[in-house]
Amino acid sequence: MHKLESIAENVRECQKCELCETRIKAVPGKGNFDADVIFVGEAPGRNEDIHGEPFVGAAGKRLDMILEDTGIDRKDVYITNIVKCRPPKNRVPSKKEEESCNDFIKQEIEIINPKIICVMGNTAYGTLLDGKEITKNHGKIVEKDGRKFFVTFHPAATIYNQKLVEELKEDFRKLAKFLETKDEPKQYEERRCDYCMAKTKHEVVVMPKVVTRKRRWLFKCTECNHERWLQPYRTVAESLY
Ligand code: URA
Repeated sequence: MHKLESIAENVRECQKCELCETRIKAVPGKGNFDADVIFVGEAPGRNEDIHGEPFVGAAGKRLDMILEDTGIDRKDVYITNIVKCRPPKNRVPSKKEEESCNDFIKQEIEIINPKIICVMGNTAYGTLLDGKEITKNHGKIVEKDGRKFFVTFHPAATIYNQKLVEELKEDFRKLAKFLETKDEPKQYEERRCDYCMAKTKHEVVVMPKVVTRKRRWLFKCTECNHERWLQPYRTVAESLY
């Protein structure tokens, strides 16, 4: 079983906070396990609670519309939420609920190791980046702990405020442009060198098209210069430490 599938199982069985008593279904993240981008929302709404999948209701339709507009295929991305169970009446999740779910989002990010994490709305912005004013900071790339984050509005905000549709589309175009940049490497990750076993940083070097189409990357130990071709999953999920 893929590590992300076992996280999804843990989400479905989770009873760490009171939301497990009111949920119909817990909602694990869903999408491409090898995505270059993870989209992070707040928490499931009514439809997500019924179906057990993220962004399948009104906010999901907005997200789909904007993804389509920017040429990003939903099949290529991974979509998740800060909190995995629906808060009653769609209220904003409490700090305790966010903390109960914290390990899940951390693990999803670590395993997928995306090029960028798209933070949608105030809850995700606050939890992942300690951010507050999304209106001032949307459309920007922010770096934290060696990872890149793209800050934007929550798609649901465009349902109540039509003026935001264009701004959100504009942000997504910037994100799409970033994703198209071929020489943007995946991020550094701490691993053991396959040869000398030293705990070190390996650089993921983006290779010519022929090779990247096969989804294989060249890992290079930045300390001993050993090189090795590996599949993305294996490198991240199985050979960590
Ligand atoms: N809003 C969210 O933040 N997440 C969903 O999955 C649906 C609506």
